[in-house]
Amino acid sequence: MKKIVSIINLKGGVAKTTTAVNFAYELANRGQRVLIVDNDKQGNLSKAFKGYDPFNKYTTAYLMTKRDADVSKVIAKTRYENIDIIPANMHLANANMSVMMDMSRQQQTRLHKAFADGGIYDRYDYMVIDNAPDINISIINALTISTDVVVPLIIDQYSMDGLDILKEQLQQVKEDFNEGINFDGCLVTQWQKNDVNIEGLEVIKKSYPVFETKIRRTNAKVQESTFAKIPLIEYSKRCGASIDYRKFVDEWLNEFAK
Ligand SMILES: Nc1ncnc2c1ncn2[C@@H]1O[C@H](COP(=O)(O)OP(=O)(O)OP(=O)(O)O)[C@@H](O)[C@H]1O
Ligand SMILES: [Mg+2]
Repeated sequence: MKKIVSIINLKGGVAKTTTAVNFAYELANRGQRVLIVDNDKQGNLSKAFKGYDPFNKYTTAYLMTKRDADVSKVIAKTRYENIDIIPANMHLANANMSVMMDMSRQQQTRLHKAFADGGIYDRYDYMVIDNAPDINISIINALTISTDVVVPLIIDQYSMDGLDILKEQLQQVKEDFNEGINFDGCLVTQWQKNDVNIEGLEVIKKSYPVFETKIRRTNAKVQESTFAKIPLIEYSKRCGASIDYRKFVDEWLNEFAK
């Protein structure tokens, strides 16, 4: 495994899942073997790859709760040769609660143990983890194994909310479990070139690293692609957000995966 990237923000609706889908898709497009992990009980990433089953017992929830979990049971194929997925569904809500109540095994390293036991780290080039708008035990598990953290955000009055808390949590994970984790940067999504966006961006840049590439707001096409269950980059190659996501992958590879 070259890199494990967590897509994360405590705020909802900032394009975490859209970023995870297109990031993974574009890496696979470039010949990389990618495992995507849905770490959100909403299951939106799973839905994006047509794999969603609300009754599936073999999901991230199973990895979090089952002692000696067999990771091969949870890995599903997608219609893309180079992309496999570990899906999620509502079972993750209960799983998080039962992990919190079960102190008999370490709570923060359940995913790591399942992946290490199952030889997952040798089978893929990249892992991309889509997280819930939250900071819960399954997210701590994701951070414990991540080499990189990408934080999508929309520039508005609330965009700074939660970033400090996220940074603190990262620091904690760094000290306790994962010295190598790196906050790569914030990725501005739904970008519009107006005063609010331009001024807001300057404020954010004072406190956090921000990727040069910004993902333009591209109405209709992004929503259509979610209904079609096809990654935007495939659904509409030439729309603004697709061009930007490819550019973002160039920037990220150049900066963090050399
Ligand atoms: N560049 C874009 N232009 C226009 N709409 C976008 C863009 N990116 C994402 N969206 C839309 O914004 C909404 C939220 O996106 P998404 O589901 O990826 O966010 P999220 O952060 O994963 O949300 P949640 O916190 O609920 O998991 C969706 O309706 C999506 O289609
Ligand atoms: Mg999401």
